[in-house]
Amino acid sequence: MKASIIYVFLFSITSTLFIRCNPGTTNNPPVIDSIRIKAFAVSFHEGQQLFIQHCTPCHRQPEHRITCDYIFTNLFERLPKPAEDYFVRFIRDSKALKEAGNDYTITTSREYNSNYNHHFKDALTEDDFDRLLIYMKAAIKLK
Ligand code: HEC
Repeated sequence: MKASIIYVFLFSITSTLFIRCNPGTTNNPPVIDSIRIKAFAVSFHEGQQLFIQHCTPCHRQPEHRITCDYIFTNLFERLPKPAEDYFVRFIRDSKALKEAGNDYTITTSREYNSNYNHHFKDALTEDDFDRLLIYMKAAIKLK
């Protein structure tokens, strides 16, 4: 009887020590966090370069917005859901969305009185679309 109490006691002490000495086994290990932060910073920068290269002929960089009715204000709240998916489809080939009868795309181009079609599916890779998305989502939130 005594021996089993001692075993239980020893087990609880060693497991407590193990958990305390291995914080990496719990939710947010600092090393993984810092890798994620670096990866995010790299993608943001690459997305920004893509934006400068392909989009600034017509659009201001989101983080430099100067008017309150800036075209990208609350963009991802407004776009049809799932917004990230719509964004990529729109940039890739907005004409295809119009031809498929997509209400949002048709209305937006009417509101802006524009017949421009975004067509970057040949100029950008899948990874580029991801980088552009990461950049846009973060840069729109910057004030
Ligand atoms: C030649 C000019 C031009 C270029 C280049 C251009 N856009 Fe646009 N963009 C427009 C116009 C005009 C609109 C207004 C709506 C429309 O015509 O579809 C627009 C609309 C948008 C919208 C929709 C905004 C809303 O309110 O729904 C997004 C998102 C967008 N552009 C992102 C981009 C990105 C990202 C790039 C670069 C990869 C880019 N655009 C390149 C002219 C351009």
